[in-house]
Amino acid sequence: MKIGVLKETKAYEKRVAITPDVVKLLVKKEFEVVIEEGAGEGSYYSDQDYRNAGAEVAKSAEVFAADLLLKVNLFTKEEISQMKNGASCISFMYAYQHPEIIQALNEKSITSISMDAVPRISRAQKMDALSSQANLAGYKSVILGANHLGKIFPLMMTASGTITPAKVLIFGAGVAGLQAIATAKRLGAIVEVTDVRPETKEQVESLGGRFLTVEGAEEVKIEGGYAKEVSAEFLQKQQQLIREKIKEADLVITTALVMGKKSPILVTEEMVKSMKAGSVIVDMAVESGGNCELSEINKIVVKHGVTLVGESNLPSLLSTNASQLYAINISTLLLHLFNQFGLNLDREEEITKGVLITHEGELVHEFTKNILNPKS
Ligand code: NAI
Repeated sequence: MKIGVLKETKAYEKRVAITPDVVKLLVKKEFEVVIEEGAGEGSYYSDQDYRNAGAEVAKSAEVFAADLLLKVNLFTKEEISQMKNGASCISFMYAYQHPEIIQALNEKSITSISMDAVPRISRAQKMDALSSQANLAGYKSVILGANHLGKIFPLMMTASGTITPAKVLIFGAGVAGLQAIATAKRLGAIVEVTDVRPETKEQVESLGGRFLTVEGAEEVKIEGGYAKEVSAEFLQKQQQLIREKIKEADLVITTALVMGKKSPILVTEEMVKSMKAGSVIVDMAVESGGNCELSEINKIVVKHGVTLVGESNLPSLLSTNASQLYAINISTLLLHLFNQFGLNLDREEEITKGVLITHEGELVHEFTKNILNPKS
């Protein structure tokens, strides 16, 4: 079976789906690997590195002839039109947001597998690219935020005076949020955190953060490790609590996510107005609508004296590590679903059920089906 790896075409994307180390592993398992010329450049892997690892380096037309295609970002309609009928592909898909892509895949009977749909269970941790990328993004959000601040993070006592530590307020203690807490603490900041899942309190405190408890938090329902949509009443109570805290914050990082839904607005324009001049907000949820009313996707803007950072692809800013981890995630999933002869699916198995989006000309993914065609 031939695996093809395409160069990413999305603007500013520097990641690549497979690294030379992972090529070696796949070749050892008797897969053939063909990679598009220059695909690894943004992550500092040369064509020669891939050749040395056992891959063929070729123009895109040859890569499209492979049985299984790999990418980081969603395949475009144009790319799908160049695939073989009945081929397979794996990438981040967020399929429920792209019915037109599902249609294009089904027209060519392409088996599509989505990296963002890997279930968050222990057995699938090595395949969990959402977590590996969010972890790096959480780190980078703090570094980026710190870069835009006119202040340092740690307490510093000098002959010229004492500098008090910066205050960082983090919304959401999931994978990205927890790494942001750890990074901000390492740099010496005082860190406060809010989340709707009460069990995150212990995790926040173990990293040295202070958890802001919202009254009524125990009523929030959790499903598959994700918070289900929270009530308007809960969000109102949370806003009351953070309204005071945000006035003192130097850096705010928002990571609040409700799977499959638009992100909740947690920082309103009024709150931004109440913040100190020179403070910074990094809105990590900007791609799914943003947690701050004023942030703008892929822009750094200053509003009411506050710098708002809306970088939607933080992992790409750490492309070497992001590609390294993604390549391990995607190859582990690949080896779960394919052998050297082709697809080897057990349709009843939990991970397979979780990630399989289209197969044999049909949309088979229940979650995506329910979002695209809700039962009335
Ligand atoms: P996660 O699901 O692990 O964590 C999200 C957390 O937000 C959960 O702990 C959840 O309980 C919490 N949450 C939900 N509603 C909330 C509310 N109203 N108030 C406070 N907390 C709330 O997600 P993960 O992997 O940490 O990703 C977080 C966000 O970062 C997502 O929006 C994701 O799309 C984004 N992200 C952005 C990147 C970028 O480059 N900008 C890169 C990676 C992730």
